[in-house]
Amino acid sequence: MKAPKGTGHLVASHGSRHARIWGVGGFRPERVVLNSELVEAIDSSDEWIQERSGIKQRRWAGPEDTVVSMSEAAARDAIAAAGIRVEQVDAVIISTVTHPFQTPAAAPIVADRLGLRCVAFDISAACAGYCHGISLANDMVRGGSARFVVVIGVEKLTDFTDLTDRGTAFIFADGAGAAVVGPSDVPGFGPTIWGSDGSHWETIRQTKSWLEVRDQGLPHPTIGMAGQSVFRWAVWSMAPVARQAIEAAGITPDDLDAFLPHQANMRIIDALLKQLKLPADIPVARDIVENANTSAASIPLATERMLREGDIPHGGLALQIGFGAGLVYAAQVIVLP
Ligand code: UT7
Repeated sequence: MKAPKGTGHLVASHGSRHARIWGVGGFRPERVVLNSELVEAIDSSDEWIQERSGIKQRRWAGPEDTVVSMSEAAARDAIAAAGIRVEQVDAVIISTVTHPFQTPAAAPIVADRLGLRCVAFDISAACAGYCHGISLANDMVRGGSARFVVVIGVEKLTDFTDLTDRGTAFIFADGAGAAVVGPSDVPGFGPTIWGSDGSHWETIRQTKSWLEVRDQGLPHPTIGMAGQSVFRWAVWSMAPVARQAIEAAGITPDDLDAFLPHQANMRIIDALLKQLKLPADIPVARDIVENANTSAASIPLATERMLREGDIPHGGLALQIGFGAGLVYAAQVIVLP
């Protein structure tokens, strides 16, 4: 075997020593849908939905709102909040499971709409996708492959929801949230605790594969969920993950200024809160009441709203945790922009 030449010495990329979130933004569709509009088709009631999930209403995208258009709006909002120029963005990461094209990804189209020709790709990590994107962006900024990264969580779940399915019709909703991640002098993120358990892939999934739809002439597929199994997993398996994220960040629960869990079910949020023994007066994201479950968009949308309404302090420490289809999860402590 030939020996390597050994004459070329690579230049490695180096980024900023640290990264942080510079700004967050959001897009909420205009149309508000009350529980009362949905209950007949699923033989349910406003009381049942509120009691079992905390949801009072949700927002549904109009025909003109697409994954791409909602992403662009959220990205522009986050870029404005970050106080940078659009041209300074050199990567766009979109987390979505509802872009209606198998290929290409939504991100290059969104980048183009922003007037950019930068790195742009989608990731598929369902309700944990935003926290995955944040982790990637942090590594990209510190590794030197990008200086400013826009991370977008966006879903138009109504395109993939069966409004006669009791387990999902009242839960899923539409929207987009975004964050700009950029360089920092001090750490803006604790280590991400993330992982998967694909042995439970069937518990939240597209009901039929595209090939089954094609070959068996089936109707447009939707997303189905074994609600109780996912509920149990979220409550029992995510508390240790959240605890690890706090420990890995080198802080204690008492140091936290906010708890920003994925908005899946109010009872999951309350169960996590109890298990984590977070300070009694800690502000907690409860966007689910008005926006239901927007999957990848839920955490950035809740963050944007709580910052705007003055519920959580700029510069404070927040624990965020996403979990969902895969099953996959990701949690990290962040410094709020
Ligand atoms: O975002 C990704 C992660 N997703 C999640 O974490 C969601 C996790 N799961 C959940 O949030 C909950 O499982 C649901 C809100 C989906 C359902 O609540 P649940 O308390 O787990 O309901 P269940 O499926 O255990 O059903 C309880 C009862 C049943 O009646 P019986 O057998 O006790 O008489 C159901 O038939 O409620 C009945 N039921 C309903 N009743 C009125 C189930 N769905 C409905 C409904 N309206 N929509």
